[in-house]
Amino acid sequence: MGNKFGRILIVSICIACFALAGVAFAQKDVKYDGGTAGAVLFGHAYHKGKDLKCTDCHTKIFSRKKEAKITKAEHNGDKLCAACHDGKKTFGMKAEADCAKCHKK
Ligand code: HEC
Ligand code: HEC
Ligand code: HEC
Repeated sequence: MGNKFGRILIVSICIACFALAGVAFAQKDVKYDGGTAGAVLFGHAYHKGKDLKCTDCHTKIFSRKKEAKITKAEHNGDKLCAACHDGKKTFGMKAEADCAKCHKK
């Protein structure tokens, strides 16, 4: 009886560890539909490679529940992607020349 409970406990702990490890190390890329402008792929690994920490985005800019709805009006704001993609910190979302850096047809 105690033995069985012990095994269940160990299995539960392992599942919890794998789940946490998955969250910490295996963020998927997030694909946005993008409508007529073309699909946008947000790369987690890519952004991490740019020296960004999880906390730079979560949860002050993005929740972890996918996915934010980003309207055309928000391209001109200072929230969501535009919190960084403002043409100063990094390339912006307003110039024609930059659209294709995110939107792929
Ligand atoms: C440059 C910003 C940015 C950074 C840095 C970032 N994320 Fe995200 N993350 C996003 C965006 C954007 C989404 C999509 C959710 C949305 O649109 O609100 C997302 C979604 C997620 C999700 C839910 C979707 C999924 O893949 O299951 C998890 C979990 C997550 N992020 C974890 C992390 C962790 C852990 C780190 C650090 C290792 C991290 N993120 C770093 C922007 C970021
Ligand atoms: C916390 C800041 C931050 C946020 C928020 C952020 N980015 Fe970025 N992003 C960067 C930086 C920094 C780069 C690197 C640009 C460079 O090296 O010139 C980058 C680069 C990119 C690139 C690569 C462009 C290329 O030329 O290959 C794409 C695509 C991109 N971001 C999409 C997004 C999308 C979509 C969102 C919102 C869902 C987002 N980013 C939110 C900081 C951010
Ligand atoms: C930093 C990345 C990024 C850049 C640069 C960017 N966009 Fe977007 N755009 C997005 C994301 C993310 C969405 C949200 C897609 C979704 O929710 O399906 C979006 C959505 C859109 C939409 C659909 C909005 C809606 O209400 O459905 C249009 C139209 C659009 N972008 C046009 C443009 C144009 C035009 C440019 C250049 C002037 C541009 N975008 C530059 C990331 C970007």
